[in-house]
Amino acid sequence: MLEQKENRVEKISLANWTQVIKPPALRSIHSIISRPGILSFALGQPASDLFPVEKLSKAAAKLLAINSSGLQYELPSQRLKSQIVELMALRGVACEKEQIFLTAGAQQAMALLARLLLNNSGQVLTEEVTYEGLYMVISPYLPNIWTVSTDLESGMNIEAIEQLLQTGARPAFIYSITDGHNPLGISMRSDKRVRLVEIARQYRIPIIEDDAYGFVYYESASEPPLRALDEEWVLYVGSFSKILAPGLRVGWIVAPEELISKLSFIKQAIDIDVSTLSQQIISTFLDEGFLPDHLVKLREGYKLRRDAMLEALDKYFPKEARWRRPTNGIFIWIELPDRVDTNELFRIAVERENVAFIPGHVFSINESDYPTHCMRLNFSNCPAEQIEEGIIRLARVLDSFPAGR
Ligand SMILES: Cc1ncc(COP(=O)(O)O)c(C=O)c1O
Repeated sequence: MLEQKENRVEKISLANWTQVIKPPALRSIHSIISRPGILSFALGQPASDLFPVEKLSKAAAKLLAINSSGLQYELPSQRLKSQIVELMALRGVACEKEQIFLTAGAQQAMALLARLLLNNSGQVLTEEVTYEGLYMVISPYLPNIWTVSTDLESGMNIEAIEQLLQTGARPAFIYSITDGHNPLGISMRSDKRVRLVEIARQYRIPIIEDDAYGFVYYESASEPPLRALDEEWVLYVGSFSKILAPGLRVGWIVAPEELISKLSFIKQAIDIDVSTLSQQIISTFLDEGFLPDHLVKLREGYKLRRDAMLEALDKYFPKEARWRRPTNGIFIWIELPDRVDTNELFRIAVERENVAFIPGHVFSINESDYPTHCMRLNFSNCPAEQIEEGIIRLARVLDSFPAGR
């Protein structure tokens, strides 16, 4: 029976690009780490215990008691767009309601922008180590991917971008995570922000700026994003996933007004519109003025977890390991001694110590060797009191590596 099914599947001929993609690593790791008892620093999930459940459910109940419009097809909420304009002002970005386009999260925003900008076999320029969602977005176009290195203090190598452009690279866009980089945990230095935008203008290359973590900061407010420096060449991507709840699936693009109708065409073809109910719930939450307090709580909670992880790393990890203190976002990137292959380390850590992380190679968009001795640790979705235990377990695996195979 199973054999018959497999034969049937073989007869369906799939689009060419499906033959060359690598399987999404995070999804397969997800199934491994869902095992009971596992202590996970793997996924980039927000803290479930910090979701403002009561306030969101009150907002939903209130809305549904008034009328059923949240269950109907509706035009995108103008009220929510105005509220996003106010939110962007807190990031130092001046924009108009007409420049806001609502999406199902940052991931869809990236997919829509890629659809808008990238031709089949076109070019994309990004960092060697970056968010793996970009790979998924661009793979169907079978693109030529240019990469530059990232300095772990100051961010993307801007000189290398310029060199690539000088020698003829013409990417459809540059993808940049300016603050709280996933997976590297860094934020771009301000002089690099200015230079990157100058280059984009000079060579007329749009930048997709992924700001999923711009509001998630721990010391002082983040520097203004690239979009604050240019409104023509920077296409800004924001999201409520990391500041409210990813299950609502609402994000946004800030783009020049003339691009909005084209984005709307693409989005309607895919899923018509963002969930009306989610838009209304978020808008009511913002109207009630709940966001500022929630963000204070979130930042305090995450800072506690970040500091617990940094302290435990200092105490238990080998002296040759290197990491930095992230000012934004939810990740710590660790460079281990070269001899440590973190794929192998992951297997042993899960099997022997019931502890998980993401091996660095997952984030290598062009399969470079650099991150094979690196790991990404997430600190947002693990209670502070369990963090030390998790790091002790990881340090034990490292101590015996590779002898403990
Ligand atoms: C850098 C980055 N961009 C985009 C996303 C996708 O976020 P969303 O839930 O808003 O689609 C994530 C999620 O982890 C992310 O880390």
